[in-house]
Parts: sequence; C-alpha cells; structure tokens
Amino acid sequence: MKLYIDTANLADIEEIASWGVLSGATTNPTLLSQVEGDEDDIYRRICEIVDGPVSAEVVADDVPTMISEGQRLAAIDPRIVIKLPTTREGLSATSALARDGIRVNMTLCFTANQAILAASAGASFVSPFVGRYDDINEDGLGHLLEIVEAFAASDFDCEVLAASIRTPVHVMEAARMGSDIATIPPKVFHQMLHHPLTAQGIDKFNEDHAARLSRKDA
Ligand code: G3P
Repeated sequence: MKLYIDTANLADIEEIASWGVLSGATTNPTLLSQVEGDEDDIYRRICEIVDGPVSAEVVADDVPTMISEGQRLAAIDPRIVIKLPTTREGLSATSALARDGIRVNMTLCFTANQAILAASAGASFVSPFVGRYDDINEDGLGHLLEIVEAFAASDFDCEVLAASIRTPVHVMEAARMGSDIATIPPKVFHQMLHHPLTAQGIDKFNEDHAARLSRKDA
C-alpha cells in the first residue's frame, strides 16, 4: 500500500516527506481553508515536496466549470490530479477530463457502486471515505472492504485511495485488506510511528552505552 499525506500544511508535508515514506498527497477545500496563501502556489509547493500525485479539488458544481477548472489546475504541474465529487456532474466531468488525459481522483465516495461508476467513468483514483462512516456509528472499514473486493475482481484501471483516515488502525486495516493507497493526516502518521517500548528501549540502550563509556574512562 502506498502512503499519501492528507493536508495542505506545507510544514507537515515537509516533515513527513523527510521520513522518505510519501508517494503522494491529497487536499480538499476544508484542508486548504486551514492554510494561508495563494491556492495555486500551495499546489506548486506541494508538488515540489512530494514526488507523486497531488490531488487538487474542483469546487464548481456544474460540468463545464468542473472541466475548465480541472484543466486549469492540471496545467499547474504534471503531478496534479483533479479531485471531483462522486456525483452525476462529477462523473460527466471525470469522463471528459480522462479523455483529455487528465487524471481524476473521485472523492466523497461511500459505496462500492459509487466506486464502480467512478472507475467506469475513467477515474484514475477513487477515494472511499472511512472515518465519516465511523463518525455516524457505521462500519467505514467494512464499506472500504466491499470496494477493495469489487476492484480486485474487476479489471478497473483505477486505484483505491482510502481516505477520511482517523486512526493508525484505519491505516493498518486498509493495508491488510489490500487498498492501493491510504491518504493519512499528519497526526496519524505520528501516531503510527510512536510506540512507548521503542522510546523506552532507546533510553535503555543510551543509558547502557553511557555506563560502558564511563567504565572505560574510569
Ligand atoms: O481529503 C479527503 C478526506 O481524507 C477527508 O477526510 O477527515 O475530512 O473526513 P475527513
């Protein structure tokens, strides 16, 4: 499974990119609203930091504007992927942009049938939201599994990009079921990495190393 980062915060992207674990990034209007600066400049900077697909979301809700805005955003950098909602307008714009050779990530996807339509329209990625199901007491991972299984049985040229990730367990379970990608908030990356026994073990190793050095110098 490939790991993308789900944020527009450049400092967070630089930090996690320095770990050498990132294959891409995703943003959305909410994430962009949390950072200052020109939207296109932010996308350019993310493309400089992350050498992989960078999803930029179109905000329009009519097909012609979705297409023109998608074409404009795609021209920023070859790594830009256009994010469109899994709606009838989004499907029409996706098929038009895909015919133009522009990669699309269909987002706000919640069911296997929505994902099947997205792939059939020519989307390169589909983003099933996991956490927003959990937020309403439903089984987000179960819905993701339905999509992963349907795609495994089909010959879609479309990657499953697990999104709305809330916890390290979401990441682990997405990997275990065979999702192609998970897009992960910075906070969850840190939660994935930290373990108290690792920290404890480093302290002990350092103490023992220091004790040996002090004996040697005695
Ligand atoms: O960016 C798409 C998705 O990851 C957003 O997730 O946390 O707003 O449900 P969230």
